[in-house]
Amino acid sequence: MNVVRTAWATSAPYFDISARQPSGSPAMQRSTSAISSGFPATPRVYPSAPPAAEFGPGGIRRSLCYPATVREIPLLSSRLLVGRDVLHAVGSAVRAAAPKAVRAVVLTDENCLRYARGVARGLRAEGLATVVESLPPGESRKTLATAAKLYDRLARARTDRLTPLVCVGGGVITDLGGFVAATFMRGIPAFLVPTTLLGQVDAAIGGKTGVNLVHGKNLVGTFTQPGAVFIDPAVLRTLPAREYVAGLGEVVKYGMIRDAELFGFLETEIDAIRRRDPEVLEEIVFRCAKIKAQVVGADERESGERAILNYGHTIGHALEAAGQYRKLHHGEAVSVGMEAEAFIGMEMGLAPIEVLAAQNRLLRLCGLPTRVGRLPRARIAAALKLDKKNESGRPRFVLPEAVGKVRYGVEVSDDLVAAALRTVILGPKS
Ligand SMILES: NC(=O)c1ccc[n+]([C@@H]2O[C@H](COP(=O)([O-])OP(=O)(O)OC[C@H]3O[C@@H](n4cnc5c(N)ncnc54)[C@H](O)[C@@H]3O)[C@@H](O)[C@H]2O)c1
Ligand SMILES: [Zn+2]
Repeated sequence: MNVVRTAWATSAPYFDISARQPSGSPAMQRSTSAISSGFPATPRVYPSAPPAAEFGPGGIRRSLCYPATVREIPLLSSRLLVGRDVLHAVGSAVRAAAPKAVRAVVLTDENCLRYARGVARGLRAEGLATVVESLPPGESRKTLATAAKLYDRLARARTDRLTPLVCVGGGVITDLGGFVAATFMRGIPAFLVPTTLLGQVDAAIGGKTGVNLVHGKNLVGTFTQPGAVFIDPAVLRTLPAREYVAGLGEVVKYGMIRDAELFGFLETEIDAIRRRDPEVLEEIVFRCAKIKAQVVGADERESGERAILNYGHTIGHALEAAGQYRKLHHGEAVSVGMEAEAFIGMEMGLAPIEVLAAQNRLLRLCGLPTRVGRLPRARIAAALKLDKKNESGRPRFVLPEAVGKVRYGVEVSDDLVAAALRTVILGPKS
């Protein structure tokens, strides 16, 4: 597959050129040193001057600047920048997008501080007075209470409407930071730097921001596209193994819903995936990000086709909730959910058994679960009823027809859902 080029990007779609950087290339070595030491002290110099500035709301310039090894995916008013060097370009790109800003705020969690500090250095090198706000890690921080604390800190840091909030972290930080940016002073510019695999292929893409309530996850939020999303797969090297493998659940999902070629690539490159080969990861996150951008671009507010992104999630969410969000990571729940939903698709005659078998094999090769230990049936049933994507109290399913092709909005009988749950839940059939 191909790699890139673009200097001052315009609204053109991503560009492919055929020269891929070999793993031992200077670019690759730079990425490696960026991981161990934070960031290079000297900011990189980028070619050419910007075209006539296009200004968006709040005087934000839309055109961004980034290295030639970065691929760009346009998404509504935003853009995704994917490449192993892109973290080095955050400072200059934010500066180009917000030429009148005086200061910047970086939001992160304690596990991502090294990347946040590097990003802050890049912003300071562009003349932006930058503070770093770091939270303890974890979903428990994704609340209105944390948002309120952050509003307070933004006010104290003399944030004005031009001040960019750069969110460096997993889905918790990009959801929370995106929400704070969308609401503080009725909206300040947000830039996202996802550092988990789930964040790079999913959470940071599409403009959904939000926080949790005690009543449920993501119950308060907005649809707000960030200024840009910087996706650098090199940061995945430090991700804990369970988080990494869980993210692969979403990756397999993209293969199943839209991209049989990606599915085949995952099968062929499974060893490289296991050892987190940066070149292979870059290709994977690019393909997944592109699919999500295409789907969201066609249906921003989830009124139609965006539903396909929920493959594996109807049952997956119910399993996650039944385990009180402690038993299964989200990607693991999606993996088991895909197994159950592929079973339903097969039983309904939509897909042959070979589809279920191929998916099961790939999930297991990735190290993902396709079965889960005992879970209370009543809680699963309650969670299925509460599913936000319900239409008139009955969950609608996304079901596979082939590898790379799904059907959405399918109603399934309670008996068949129960049979699917029996196949994936181990232990006594209570
Ligand atoms: N907005 C959306 O469309 C969307 C989509 C899917 C999920 N989400 C949300 O995303 C959240 C889950 O995101 P997540 O799985 O990224 O979890 P997370 O943000 O909690 O990150 C997982 C853990 O990995 C650590 N970490 C992150 N990057 C690291 C790195 N490079 N090296 C070392 N450690 C690192 C974090 O500190 C954390 O402990 C949930 O709140 C979910 O609701 C949102
Ligand atoms: Zn998901």
